[in-house]
Amino acid sequence: MKRILVTGGTGYIGSHTVVELLQAGCEVTIVDNLSNSFRVVLERIASISGRVPDFIEGDIRDRAVMEAALKHSQAEAVIHFAGLKAVGESVEQPLKYYDNNVNGTLVLCEAMNACGVKKLIFSSSATVYGDAAAPYREDMPLGRATNPYGASKAMIERILEDQCIADSDWSVGALRYFNPIGAHASGLIGEDPQGIPNNLMPFISKVAVGQLPQLSIFGDDYDTPDGTCIRDYLHVGDLADGHAKALKALATPGYHVFNLGTGRGYSVKEMVETFQRVTGQAVPHVYAPRREGDLAEVWADASKAKRELGWSADTPLEKMMEDTWRWQSGNPNGYRG
Ligand SMILES: NC(=O)c1ccc[n+]([C@@H]2O[C@H](COP(=O)([O-])OP(=O)(O)OC[C@H]3O[C@@H](n4cnc5c(N)ncnc54)[C@H](O)[C@@H]3O)[C@@H](O)[C@H]2O)c1
Repeated sequence: MKRILVTGGTGYIGSHTVVELLQAGCEVTIVDNLSNSFRVVLERIASISGRVPDFIEGDIRDRAVMEAALKHSQAEAVIHFAGLKAVGESVEQPLKYYDNNVNGTLVLCEAMNACGVKKLIFSSSATVYGDAAAPYREDMPLGRATNPYGASKAMIERILEDQCIADSDWSVGALRYFNPIGAHASGLIGEDPQGIPNNLMPFISKVAVGQLPQLSIFGDDYDTPDGTCIRDYLHVGDLADGHAKALKALATPGYHVFNLGTGRGYSVKEMVETFQRVTGQAVPHVYAPRREGDLAEVWADASKAKRELGWSADTPLEKMMEDTWRWQSGNPNGYRG
């Protein structure tokens, strides 16, 4: 497949995937409403790949915009990153999350149906497993989501699976991401959270660059080797490559689910220590009580993606840290200059 429509393509994971697709010779059209990203990302993508992606500023909830984008791009498939992702905000404003994520996906799928485009890659999340015990396998039942963000991902998965059952021309790849970190090796694109970061890695790098005073490590009494929580961190470049490989799975109609993780976990303590060792930057940290809803261990069984897509996330943790720091130190204010 050569012509791809990418929703949310100026965001963190989307921008890395667009680079990957352009470098593989695909024609890419991005639709993004810039609610959590910046137009300058397009220039950065062009600097890296030598090609400028087509860009439409628009909202996935706008059916007319989505139909026009599908027709204009002559897309053969859609990679759907657009969504809101802040867990805490989703608890405070659930309607906003269900509207943007669930309703947005419904409108997108209606537009795709109307235009005869029936191949979709969806950004799902390990959160859909709920509080099951790691490692997570794709054939495990969806768990009970602990927040509206996670629930929106599980609902969308159900909708997409039902659509594949109802219309055998549809093929969907639901990619359940674990914890993407790192940045492009050029240092030109990376993760740029607004305000206080929700995730560990951008928090560490913002402390290191002096924008936040210290990191709070929530809980050191978990049943893990060093008492801190364990997560499965993968390089965003490996994740981008996973999308390119997953497009091939869409040749087979039906609903396909893949975990995208490394298959091993690192503790919060290990992450802080490795970052300090690799970058030489101090990360002042304190221990705080456990956060409600945090699980002790989350990591993937990543064997299905390896077996069926020929994909694995092999970038070493040290390289993930180096790339994070190159991006953060070169762009202390992210894309705001
Ligand atoms: N980053 C992670 O740790 C992680 C983990 C699991 C799943 N995901 C999912 O992957 C996807 C991409 O995540 P990301 O980290 O790149 O997030 P991001 O916020 O950087 O990118 C999402 C992009 O979607 C755009 N967007 C949001 N709502 C939109 C709408 N209604 N119409 C058009 N554009 C819209 C935003 O402006 C942004 O550019 C999201 O769906 C997210 O839930 C992310």
